[in-house]
Amino acid sequence: MNTLETPDLIIRNARIIDGTGAASHTGDIAVRDERIIAMGDLAIHSAGAEIDATGLVASPGFIDVHTHDDRAVLADPQMTCKVSQGVTTVVTGNCGISLAPLKIKGPPPPPLDLVSKSSDGFYADFGDYLEALDQDPAAVNVVAQVGHSTLRAGVMDRFDRAATPDEISVMRQALEAALGAGAAGLSTGLFYQPAYDAPTKEIIELAKGLKAFGAIHTTHMRDETDQIVKSLEETLRIGHEADVPVVISHHKCAGAANHGRSVETLAIIDAAMSTQSLGLDAYPYVAGSTVLDANRMMGSSRTIVTWSVPHPEHSGRDLDVIADDLNMSMKDTVEFLSPAGAIYFMMDEDDVQRILAYPHTMIGSDGLPHDEHPHPRLWGTFPRVLGHYARDIGLFSLEEAVRKMTSLTARRFGLTDRGVLRVGAFADLVLFDPDKVIDTATFDEPVQAAAGVSRVFVNGRTVWQGGDHTGARPGKVLRRS
Ligand code: ZN
Ligand code: CU
Repeated sequence: MNTLETPDLIIRNARIIDGTGAASHTGDIAVRDERIIAMGDLAIHSAGAEIDATGLVASPGFIDVHTHDDRAVLADPQMTCKVSQGVTTVVTGNCGISLAPLKIKGPPPPPLDLVSKSSDGFYADFGDYLEALDQDPAAVNVVAQVGHSTLRAGVMDRFDRAATPDEISVMRQALEAALGAGAAGLSTGLFYQPAYDAPTKEIIELAKGLKAFGAIHTTHMRDETDQIVKSLEETLRIGHEADVPVVISHHKCAGAANHGRSVETLAIIDAAMSTQSLGLDAYPYVAGSTVLDANRMMGSSRTIVTWSVPHPEHSGRDLDVIADDLNMSMKDTVEFLSPAGAIYFMMDEDDVQRILAYPHTMIGSDGLPHDEHPHPRLWGTFPRVLGHYARDIGLFSLEEAVRKMTSLTARRFGLTDRGVLRVGAFADLVLFDPDKVIDTATFDEPVQAAAGVSRVFVNGRTVWQGGDHTGARPGKVLRRS
């Protein structure tokens, strides 16, 4: 202890929640450069900067395991929507959608337009995309995946068919080049039109390319409604036959007829875990959000428009109110607004809680950063899990909530020295007030920074302090190695 190099910073008297799920304890944390160099009682040491964290929790920075921040990290690199929640790392390229590798002419097909409405937002080479982030870093660290629909858009003339063996081999080469450049894995969005007609075998052939790189497969399954069990079985088969770890994205049981079925789905997931590597993530809301599509409403009981290219004036309004005002059928209204996005209320609170509380569930926002009137999960997910679900309703302990957003995710994605507080780990840190932390973003007012997050460090540098962004952008691309 006495031989400690002078720290840049000592955080004193924090309630330390280390991310492993272990009970919290009071202590000090010393940081030098990018890393934690000491923890415990550091009373005899001093540092250039000291923070008295009495009454505050110190935890690892949160890892947002499910994002669509692919372009946001370049276009809005401060990433205030995330750092204001205590998020220090984002995993991009989910649901089959990534900015690379893809070269296209003309407007990108939905849902690729969730990350860029114009074709020049995309990168033909995955390595170039990562290098652009190295050159002009974001405030947060980035773990990037390749999207299957992005691969399809690059090689197929039409989506309503299986890829040919030749097309599969071109996609597989593109995937392997991206993995070689540091991509974390391959995501699918089989639910969506560009991938819906892709047979299971096509995914298996591509996913087989992941194994040599130690990469992961994540999936927005083909169906999260009536055919949820069939979709789960398909997902398990892909993981099993390609022999790769699989993550089920934003697990849910959508549509009133399927409410309560998380009992059944979690039992299937639990049983499968004994024979294959499997994970899942969820966001803490009963509503989801994606492109507006009359054929993919998922039994929504209320639908709010989040953006519309031809009619942005309707963003934030309920679809049935717009239809009423325009005196149009629902289907015609959707057509009138498209391309567009929407929030769909289609889950049951009991399912949301059951899935969140399941010990293997990671927390991911699925936030859509380019929407005019985004789902509040973009700004509220992590403080909502900590404040509402852990503290206010006692769904799990604060330590368990933190574990679900830190070490559980870091281990699943193989992120070295992240997601835990210990000597030698990167100083991705959050200081928050456990009595005050809460989301403030709502479905009416979705763009609002959460309360109770006092200070956030990424790689040892402060990015958020006193309710404001510091302007620092110390994020790194975390290439899978
Ligand atoms: Zn999705
Ligand atoms: Cu998603």
